[in-house]
Amino acid sequence: MPPISDKKSKPAKNVPTRLRGFKDILPEEAPFWQRAYSVASKLLNDYGFSEINTPILEATNLFKRTLGEGTDIVDKEMFTFTDRSRDSVTLRPEMTAGIVRSYIEHGMFNRTQPIKLWSWGPLFRYDRPQAGRFRQFHQLDIEIIGNSREVADAEVIFLSHLFCQELGIDATVQINSLGSTEARKEYNKVLKDYYRSKRRLLCEDCKKRMAKNALRLLDCKQPSCQPFIHEAPQLVDHLDDESKRHFVKVLEYLAESQVPYVLNPYIVRGLDYYNRTTFELWPASASQSEASTFAQATADKSAGEPAAAVSAPNAIGGGGRYDGLIEQIGGRATPAVGMAFGLERVVDLMKSSKVSLETAGPDVFLAQLGEEAAKHAFLLFEKLRSAGVRAVANFAHEGLKGQLELANKLGVVFAIILGQKELLDGTVIIRDMENGIQEVVDLNKICDEIKKRLKKTRD
Ligand code: HAM
Repeated sequence: MPPISDKKSKPAKNVPTRLRGFKDILPEEAPFWQRAYSVASKLLNDYGFSEINTPILEATNLFKRTLGEGTDIVDKEMFTFTDRSRDSVTLRPEMTAGIVRSYIEHGMFNRTQPIKLWSWGPLFRYDRPQAGRFRQFHQLDIEIIGNSREVADAEVIFLSHLFCQELGIDATVQINSLGSTEARKEYNKVLKDYYRSKRRLLCEDCKKRMAKNALRLLDCKQPSCQPFIHEAPQLVDHLDDESKRHFVKVLEYLAESQVPYVLNPYIVRGLDYYNRTTFELWPASASQSEASTFAQATADKSAGEPAAAVSAPNAIGGGGRYDGLIEQIGGRATPAVGMAFGLERVVDLMKSSKVSLETAGPDVFLAQLGEEAAKHAFLLFEKLRSAGVRAVANFAHEGLKGQLELANKLGVVFAIILGQKELLDGTVIIRDMENGIQEVVDLNKICDEIKKRLKKTRD
């Protein structure tokens, strides 16, 4: 299929166009999405995960209670509206909240734990559209609910890395630990003390973050706030002993399973429900340039200068442990860990990494001539397809010449021609596309006959 430009062409007057930050996934991009879905479903099903699909629309409260007031998502990015019953509803901005709601609502805690789930679908965030950032985007989400052990964190990270490998894209795991919820509260105080003297230099959002949720100061993307982030006291220095031990063990699992990782103290994530392990997957190319910027930032820091501004790369995925979330929304205390890939970014990376999607083309073109033959063509095509013959047809095409030209263009080995007369005789014509020789064969034997001939041409 010839490429169709996804650029917004100037619309004619009164012709509707898509909304800002929304994207059409056009047919030529579909093979990348199909490959990603088939790799994900096979991999996760093989590892004992089950697919779950929760509604796209949920009660607004669910997200307010789970994602945290003071996070950008809740404060600025939710598509929230009042429905006809005057209830406040929200298009899901992420999947974990809906999945844990479903876990509690369907009593999944009564089954053998852990519950291993995956999901695939659209999300909505009223973000500022830019490269790799959309208002409707898609995620592959992976969750292990009901296990507190390090092996669960490692399994999620191992599978995320394996997903990238199987797709042929190069990504690195950037990993950190946020410690226990109590240690985080302590760290929030330390952070507030540190920022207090810098308040007037902060962007307006950071001033609000200081009052509401100090950890979110470390998420700020404003260049003017970056030096403060890199000067800030680090969370790793405030970890509780149990979290330290947990973190070291997760890293041991990763090393043993040959998952390369980079320790990155700035991975604090933009959602409030995390504790202990947090991680992101960065494109390897971004990781390299970011690593050198981080090195530069650290060098500047030790020289007593303000650290260099570091712009966050577009992570292709991220996640972590969220042991308090299920209890927080009314379930029993249940540890859990998970992650999500941003699929638009994964597909972009597949394209720039020149991932090959070549599949074998068709071997046979089915051409039909006349109304009766056209009516029978569906059945004949299905017969060929179910016999495993890679066939192609254009049922809407009427002229034989045009159909044979198309067959030629597609490079098939044989054309099968079903005409009015052949249909009455119970026969079809096989045309060898290389030398143009045609032969009449029995309609009932066409599948065996074509398979035999295809085998001969391949031998
Ligand atoms: P998140 O980091 O907010 O985590 O999103 C995961 C991924 O979704 C990001 O790394 C990014 O690739 C993609 N993404 C996020 N926002 C956008 C956007 N506006 N446009 C395009 N892609 C985007 C979560 O959503 C957590 N629920 C992950 C998780 C699952 N944690 C535990 N379980």
